[in-house]
Amino acid sequence: MRDLFGAELRWFQHIEETARRVFGRHGYGEIRTPILEELEVFKRSVGESSDIVNKEMYQFTDKGGREVVMRPENTAGVVRAAIQHKLLTSNDPVLFYYIGQQFRYERMQTGRYRQFWQIGAESFGVASPESEAESLLMLHSFLTELGLKSLVFSINSVGTPESRPAFHAAFRAFFAERADQFCEDCHRRIETNPLRVLDCKNERCQAALAGHPVITDHLDEASAQHHARLKALLAELGIPYVEDPRLVRGLDYYTRTAFEVLSSDLGAQSALLGGGRYDGLVKQLGGPEVPAFGWAIGLDRLAMVLQQVRGEAPHQAPALLIPLGDRAATEALKLARILWDAGVPLQLETRGGALKKAMAFANRAGIQTVLILGDGELEAGTVTVKHMATGEQETWALGEAAARLAPPTA
Ligand code: HAM
Repeated sequence: MRDLFGAELRWFQHIEETARRVFGRHGYGEIRTPILEELEVFKRSVGESSDIVNKEMYQFTDKGGREVVMRPENTAGVVRAAIQHKLLTSNDPVLFYYIGQQFRYERMQTGRYRQFWQIGAESFGVASPESEAESLLMLHSFLTELGLKSLVFSINSVGTPESRPAFHAAFRAFFAERADQFCEDCHRRIETNPLRVLDCKNERCQAALAGHPVITDHLDEASAQHHARLKALLAELGIPYVEDPRLVRGLDYYTRTAFEVLSSDLGAQSALLGGGRYDGLVKQLGGPEVPAFGWAIGLDRLAMVLQQVRGEAPHQAPALLIPLGDRAATEALKLARILWDAGVPLQLETRGGALKKAMAFANRAGIQTVLILGDGELEAGTVTVKHMATGEQETWALGEAAARLAPPTA
């Protein structure tokens, strides 16, 4: 768990602003759910065979004796909330996005934290591949507007609970023939959730999987058509994707489409984002039968990648206004007020004292523009402006400072 500030937090803020702008224009509304949820919410959604529920949850008994969990992800909480507030009772589409902290007791690795942030989008009420294309297009615009260009979507279909047993049977038969080559965890997985074997990080298990039955060869007719249609839509929209029949998400609720985006900047196996369809989850958590699709992106990871690819987050550093003398101290407050009201990012030096000290501070703080207001300037109705990068100095009339420093209006 870490503290966020400075350059890194500026990326977080820029990403969050971009998300709100892009998602808002797609008709998604924000939802904020509590960090604590009842244990059952995750057991019945993310699944008891998942690593998240098995090993990674911050789980405790509260003073009222309730078994609670600090949410490891937000989809289950959004579904719980949507059911509780009867938001899914009509057949209308319901579109939500969220930005918030999640908690997983994970081992330390690059881009992996115990408190991390996710930005996610969930769309309820539509089962079509077109709704998936809409959501993926929104995701694509979001990443493109942030300046990420070469990301590839990795997609798979994990079928439906009805069609999956056919694949499980073929896969279990394959496993049985070479059972001795698989690790102990895989022996457990083949019983509880065979798909998870595909996700094993053990190199021996990965080698033993060569030539394994592929889930997309065992889809029911409707799921196969759904998958083909989504691929055709992505091609039509120019969203680059690859098919990955081994792609299995670490959460149990997916049906049909599952996808991820990996980033090489994060090291092996690290996903920047993931998601998919989860048509059974609303019902599973006690709501009506409502199809759903969504994804979540790790904000910490996204900020890290952007820092690597683009350097500093876009932001306008404040100017520094330095008054010299008692009279200027009062006049500087008045000038600063005019500039602030005009939207100028400005820091006011309020300590008094020598110009040299204030200039040294401006240097350390990376301030680009310094305004100096002394008795001479007050007499003349001007302000002295020093551009730190070039050392160049000029004189402005007080009345023109706001217009010269105001950020361009969008
Ligand atoms: P997830 O794959 O578990 O899916 O997490 C989504 C993203 O959260 C990951 O791709 C990663 O970027 C980020 N993330 C996960 N764990 C960590 C961590 N320990 N530190 C930093 N970042 C992390 C879900 O959570 C699903 N709820 C996604 C979804 C939404 N599916 C449908 N709707």
